[in-house]
Amino acid sequence: MPELIVVPEPDEAGELVASKVVALVQNNPGSVLGVATGTTPLVVYRALRRHFEAGVDFSKVRAFALDEYVGLPAGHPESYASVIDREVRQGLGIPAAQVHVPDGDPAGLDNAGQRFEDAIAQAGGVDLQLLGIGATGHIGFNEPGSSLTSLTHVETLAEQTRIDNSRFFDTLADVPHLAVTQGVGTIMRARELVLLAFGQAKAQIVARALEGPISEDVPASALQMHPHLTVVLDEGAASQLKR
Ligand code: PGA
Repeated sequence: MPELIVVPEPDEAGELVASKVVALVQNNPGSVLGVATGTTPLVVYRALRRHFEAGVDFSKVRAFALDEYVGLPAGHPESYASVIDREVRQGLGIPAAQVHVPDGDPAGLDNAGQRFEDAIAQAGGVDLQLLGIGATGHIGFNEPGSSLTSLTHVETLAEQTRIDNSRFFDTLADVPHLAVTQGVGTIMRARELVLLAFGQAKAQIVARALEGPISEDVPASALQMHPHLTVVLDEGAASQLKR
C-alpha cells in the first residue's frame, strides 16, 4: 500500500514534497531526481526554490525529465527541455549538463529511447521520481494501452491529452501528436515515486489508478506495484477514494 497524504491546499503538498527532496539531497548531494512537467508539480519547484534561496545546495543534483514532445523546434518555450530549464534548473542552480530531457528531434527518434535509458543507467538510476497524472490515466506520456513494462519510447498522444495540453499552445493544431516518454517500466525502476494530484477533476482517475485493477487501460495503476510510493493529494483529488 502506498503512503497516502491528503492536504488542504496544493501549496502544502509542494512544501511537503520539497522537504522530502531536500532531505534526499542533503543526505546525498549527487542525488538523481526525476522531474515532471505540467501544472501539478509547480508547487514543488516553487517550494524548492525557497529552499535554494535559504542556502540548500542543488549544484550536484542530476535531473531526468519524464518526456518530451516530438518535433518542436529547439528552444520552443513549451518544449519540456525549456520548461524544465525555466521551472526547475535555473531556480535551483543545477548546471545545465546535469539535466537530461528525452530528445524529441524527429531525426533521432530511432534511438532516442535507448540514449535516454543509457543516460539514466549511467547516472545510477533515479532516486526519486515526481509524477503527475493525466485525465487519461497517463504517467509520463504513457497513454491507455501502453505496456506496463516498456522503457523510454515514442508514444502517440491521446486526443484528450492534446486537448488538455492545448492551453500551453496557441491552437490545438500546434500540439504535437507524438512524444518520447519514459516507459512505465522506466518509471517503476525509480527507487522512490511521489505522485501528486490536485482538484476534483482528477478524483475519478486517481481512484481508478490507486484502487482499480492494475491494467494497461490505466497506465498509472502500475504504481500500485511500486514498493516505495507516496501519493500526495488535495481533498478534491482524494474525494473518490474509498479506502
Ligand atoms: P497537469 O498534467 O499537472 O498539468 O494536470 C499532469 C499530467 O498530464 O501528467
